[in-house]
Amino acid sequence: MNSVSISGYGDDLSVNGIRIGDLTPDDHEQIEKEKGGQNYAPLENIVVSKVKDSSTLMARKPDPNDVKKYIETELIDGLCCYSAVNQGQLNQTIVDAVVKHLEEEKLPTVPRSIRHKYMSAFLLAATSITEMDKVVPKVAGVESWELTFKICRRWGYHVKGIKDDHCIIVGATGNFHGRSVAAVSMSDDPDSRDGFGPFVPGIELVPYNDINALESLFNEKGDRIAAFMVEPIQGEAGVIVPDEDYFIKVSDLCKKHNILLAMDEVQTGFGRTGANFAHQIFGVKPDIMGCGKAAGGGILPVSFVAGRKDVINVLTPGSEGSTFGGYPLASVVGTYAIKVLADEKLADNAKVQGAHLIGNLNKIMDEFPDKIKEVRGKGLLTAFEMHNEKHLDGHTVSVELLNHGVYAKETHHSTVRLAPALTINNDQIDQLSDAIRSVVKGL
Ligand SMILES: Cc1ncc(COP(=O)(O)O)c(C=O)c1O
Repeated sequence: MNSVSISGYGDDLSVNGIRIGDLTPDDHEQIEKEKGGQNYAPLENIVVSKVKDSSTLMARKPDPNDVKKYIETELIDGLCCYSAVNQGQLNQTIVDAVVKHLEEEKLPTVPRSIRHKYMSAFLLAATSITEMDKVVPKVAGVESWELTFKICRRWGYHVKGIKDDHCIIVGATGNFHGRSVAAVSMSDDPDSRDGFGPFVPGIELVPYNDINALESLFNEKGDRIAAFMVEPIQGEAGVIVPDEDYFIKVSDLCKKHNILLAMDEVQTGFGRTGANFAHQIFGVKPDIMGCGKAAGGGILPVSFVAGRKDVINVLTPGSEGSTFGGYPLASVVGTYAIKVLADEKLADNAKVQGAHLIGNLNKIMDEFPDKIKEVRGKGLLTAFEMHNEKHLDGHTVSVELLNHGVYAKETHHSTVRLAPALTINNDQIDQLSDAIRSVVKGL
């Protein structure tokens, strides 16, 4: 006898006789609590069931008249999966490419030990859009960071000539690069580190946006430092935008000390900040960078490392690899995610709508200066920070926004990040802003 029985699709999908369409938000929460690891604390009483259009989610919330039922509600997606869906949900160009690929072209999966014809397409597209010499495909965002870390270390030994096992990689305080052991070894967030040590050695942190601290570390230990690995704008930290000239100075310092400038563009890339990649708005070019999230067009996890030839060339067969990094379907999705970024001019829309959103948020701040302390952002990577007072709680704002038809989420206690799809239009930005205004007013 089968130990599991699965049938149907959508709401009729049933597992062991439990029909998914019959489950209330509370049932979903119970199943997640009983059967899942508790590594997330999703917003309560809401379950997304499908997308309506590129910036609108359909979700289920409890029926106030009957706890055993739910009602459907529309939510403007103010977060787009933390910038994984810059191209908008179910972008037609990418969906068409996937369907055509699977049904007509028919090449889902082969390993990297045999060439497939779509890899060339992806490499041509990814090197063009990044203006980099070489690209190495991976899967999750953290893997692009981790591979960047490894390449930098190897470059440090093989090219810079750092003594074996003496390499240092420098990171910035408040960073977020993902959840692997190496990434949390660089993190200074106690929640993501507790109980996971011992950590990867050879990592040092300097305060973000502090050029003097970086300079003194480079002066003191520059011979041992292979790379400064940094987010151009810190997303998870609450959308922290550095001084306009910070990265110009960083880049000069890196060149002076023969240290690689490695950027994590997983969240800031693919048009998010009003340029294809955020380093472009600061007028610098990293030696190597990691991309993820929207590299998969909101359809598949796709990430990659892009860099200068002499840096990426430290990789040799056997030194790195990934079953699904650049497999045929991912190569097609990645290629079309880039096509949409370029053809639909997503960065330009991020710039225009981002200015509109930041303008609206500034007006709300002017109206409620006792509540909102600061509005920050570039393009459509934006946030507002409230004063540090108990009743000005980011989580309450997220929950209340749901009641006003908007999905957004706090980062830290008092900051709410807004990063909608880059296909969002003027009216949707206004709807989003009106909801924020009402919620802030009621705090
Ligand atoms: C800057 C940055 N790097 C890396 C990651 C990790 O990406 P993933 O969750 O796909 O591993 C994230 C995720 O939020 C991120 O924001």
